[in-house]
Amino acid sequence: MRLTEKVHTILTNHLQQGDQAIDATAGNGYDTLFLAEQVGPSGKVIAIDIQDCAIRSTQEKLDSAGLIDRVRLVADDHALVLRKLIEANREKIAAITFNLGYLPGSDKSIQTHAESTEEALAVSIQLLCPGGCLCVTTYRGHSGGAAEAETVEAFMRKSQTEGHTVDCYIPESSNSPPILWVLKKS
Ligand SMILES: C[S@@+](CC[C@H](N)C(=O)[O-])C[C@H]1O[C@@H](n2cnc3c(N)ncnc32)[C@H](O)[C@@H]1O
Repeated sequence: MRLTEKVHTILTNHLQQGDQAIDATAGNGYDTLFLAEQVGPSGKVIAIDIQDCAIRSTQEKLDSAGLIDRVRLVADDHALVLRKLIEANREKIAAITFNLGYLPGSDKSIQTHAESTEEALAVSIQLLCPGGCLCVTTYRGHSGGAAEAETVEAFMRKSQTEGHTVDCYIPESSNSPPILWVLKKS
């Protein structure tokens, strides 16, 4: 099973109608569309991406599916956006997803970076409700990817010592496969 499918399987069992969820790296909108389906008409999704083209692509997908009404799209850096959400949304979000790296078929120089990713993850913990789920997929094959993956691993190990439940999935492969981290907030 691909890690993107694994994330969807985990969140299908976790999310309920009426929940609030965040896609912190909207990209082409596959995860945003999935989250919008899971939270239902009474739920809400916030989808963030630093690239306008990604936000447009996500909007088109949601328009086609008739689900745009339950999604708020934000074109900006996720650490910045998540920080602004804290005051009104502390411990209210049921699930947050990060699919790190760059947008396939787009400008590869626009990619997530260890420093802002670490900040965005720390804020995510504050936004998650107790029992809330944080899914983070890291890629090690591109420049900067290995350093970012190490930062995410250190964040997850520290979170585990703080009482959160952390699982890690690595597909069998000889060549630096992606890693999925799943944190359940205590
Ligand atoms: C691997 S893609 C995400 C794929 C997406 N989940 C999907 O379903 O199509 C990573 C995305 O992160 C975005 N990104 C990079 N740095 C970012 C940042 N600081 N804040 C928000 N998004 C960022 C990129 O523009 C890119 O679209």
